[in-house]
Amino acid sequence: MTVSDPIVESVITTLSRSVTEIRQGLVGRRGSANAENPSGETQMEADIWADDLLADRLSSIDGISQYASEERDTVLDCGDGDGDGYAVAVDPLDGSSNLKSNNAMGTIVGIYDAPLPARGDELVAAAYVLYGPITTMVLATDETVSEYELTGGERRLVRRDVTLPEDPVVYGFGGRVPDWTDEFRSYAREIEQEYKLRYGGAMIGDINQVLTYGGVFGYPGLVSRPEGKLRLQFEGNPIGYIVEQAGGRSSNGHQSLLTVAPNADDIHERTPVFVGNDALIHRLEAELAEARV
Ligand code: F6P
Repeated sequence: MTVSDPIVESVITTLSRSVTEIRQGLVGRRGSANAENPSGETQMEADIWADDLLADRLSSIDGISQYASEERDTVLDCGDGDGDGYAVAVDPLDGSSNLKSNNAMGTIVGIYDAPLPARGDELVAAAYVLYGPITTMVLATDETVSEYELTGGERRLVRRDVTLPEDPVVYGFGGRVPDWTDEFRSYAREIEQEYKLRYGGAMIGDINQVLTYGGVFGYPGLVSRPEGKLRLQFEGNPIGYIVEQAGGRSSNGHQSLLTVAPNADDIHERTPVFVGNDALIHRLEAELAEARV
């Protein structure tokens, strides 16, 4: 199934081809690069390599004006300078610390119709790739959400019109429990009585469980770090967009991630992230709001 917007289709085709290479290239690149990304996290050799590969490929697509990634300080201008075109924001290897233990990881791409940093409701499409036992991609556009299997650079549609199942089954929350706020801990205590824990240390693996079974994923603001861990442009917005297009909701604890005005000076801005079934996100927002009064 091709996407009707030709620029989005080019990005998705290029991504599908590139991730087959990325998956193969992980072998031999599991070590630390002895460097930090702009958010102060240790980079793996594979992080830098995957970023270079995607920057090279995505920035040369006609109609792409900017490339930004979690692994580089600044936004790369790649258009013809007239400001037209879409901007891509990429997390080249989400959860790359899982390389050491050989667990699931992902790649996330958000395609914005606005210069970066941008609000999530400027996204025209977003996709994530899950490197699990097989490589899959979930793609959301303003038309629908689809799941593909990726092999040999080609994508094969396996699920169309993906929607969150109505009855939630799983949950996964990041951060150490003693570092959770009292309000969030009380919500989490209720959720864990009702659903099954699924937390793998790579957001994409956990989000894919929520899309498959229904439920809630959250990386909350912490006592030691109220802004949380995940990045708005590279993780919060694209995942929020995908889950909302699939009939669920996203939140930073108060409002949809897609309506958050970004900090114009910080492409790497962090945010608490919650996504999942409408009722569970609504309940979270209500409980956090109640605790504030
Ligand atoms: O950088 C993001 C990330 O790797 C996410 O993919 C994942 O959800 C989170 O960090 C894991 O963090 P922690 O190790 O604190 O559970």
